[in-house]
Amino acid sequence: MAKKQLNIGIVGYGFMGRTHSNAFLQAGRFFDLPCQPVLKAVCARNVERAKSFSDNWGYESIETDWRKLVDRKDIDLIDIASPNDTHAEIAIAAAQAGKIVMCEKPLGRNSSEALAMVDAVETAKVANMVWYNYRRVPAVVLLKKLIDEGRFGRIFHYRAKFLQDWTISQDLPQGGEGLWRLDVSVAGSGVTGDLLAHNIDTAMWLNGPIREVTAMTETFIKERKHNLTGEVAPVGIDDASAFLCRFENGSLATFEATRYARGHKALYTLEINGEHASAFWDLHDLHRIQYFDHRDEGQVRGWRDIHVTDGDHPYMDHWWVPGLQIGYEHTFIHQFADFAVAIDTGKEAAPTFRDGLATDYVTDAVLKSARTRQWENVSG
Ligand SMILES: NC(=O)c1ccc[n+]([C@@H]2O[C@H](COP(=O)([O-])OP(=O)(O)OC[C@H]3O[C@@H](n4cnc5c(N)ncnc54)[C@H](O)[C@@H]3O)[C@@H](O)[C@H]2O)c1
Repeated sequence: MAKKQLNIGIVGYGFMGRTHSNAFLQAGRFFDLPCQPVLKAVCARNVERAKSFSDNWGYESIETDWRKLVDRKDIDLIDIASPNDTHAEIAIAAAQAGKIVMCEKPLGRNSSEALAMVDAVETAKVANMVWYNYRRVPAVVLLKKLIDEGRFGRIFHYRAKFLQDWTISQDLPQGGEGLWRLDVSVAGSGVTGDLLAHNIDTAMWLNGPIREVTAMTETFIKERKHNLTGEVAPVGIDDASAFLCRFENGSLATFEATRYARGHKALYTLEINGEHASAFWDLHDLHRIQYFDHRDEGQVRGWRDIHVTDGDHPYMDHWWVPGLQIGYEHTFIHQFADFAVAIDTGKEAAPTFRDGLATDYVTDAVLKSARTRQWENVSG
């Protein structure tokens, strides 16, 4: 019997437009999906580029106004892969039109936007998900399993960072295509919402809610030419952000993100230290975890380098043969496959919009603490 179609309309043909389109196309080839994803339409403002994207990925049609996409009766799922200032408006309209909604992170530019988005999807009772894709790295999923099995015992420390180096030049302009991340009105914040949001989402998934934070941020380059106006304008984003926090479970943590760490392109690392065990993960080596268990027999006790590629590792039975690695794009395939199964069974698939809101509450507290120079409680 032919599978029910899941008709997808995507907004944005940039970096994430590509990762999501690839996921929609590949998921059914490697996972037994309950539905057949159909690439119905791509929406972006530039017709020529939308057309070329659509030809490359096999979309059936294009739109240049997301409102038209949301109004279309032949679309079931709106996927938001456009900059942060578009998320709330599109998601709320899509939910009100009864569409399933997937949205890129951060959910909103701040928690007020995110809360309105949560209200919209929960009122309309539509399935929803935020693309915090690092929850679908097999090694990170294995780590979650080990933590949930109690192997670490009481958790004392969590440590995460996300380092890049692409904005160091003072000649780099802000705003517009490719550089909207430097324009605070579009991005909402700098590395706090862009990079730390990933670290925070994974951290709360692994180690529970964060109770309070104390932070510092810095904008190293105070003025940059704005691409849309041609004028030199103040830079409103945080170039670097670091915070200490306390989790609800009593553990202490440090988080750091920057776009000024020369030599680092996307160095997302995390470490967790418990009473019995410790583990370390690094995005540059994403199929491995370093694991130390103090309960191992003394003479051979040491750090294990676990290559997460075996058939009994999370998701890996869907891929090649044991020992062969998968990569970044697979995290999006896993996420979409999990979501397709969840919507078929009427269940939620995390991270939901409500989970995305929880991260926005933390990033708001981080930015507030950097302003007030005080410890701040996380709302919500
Ligand atoms: N999950 C992740 O790891 C990850 C990685 C990168 C980006 N992101 C998030 O994905 C989103 C998009 O980022 P990106 O790197 O793909 O950006 P990008 O600049 O590469 O692409 C953005 C796209 O949105 C389109 N767009 C902008 N305004 C629009 C509008 N009003 N209507 C229709 N289309 C519009 C642009 O034309 C472009 O195609 C952001 O929210 C970002 O934070 C997430």
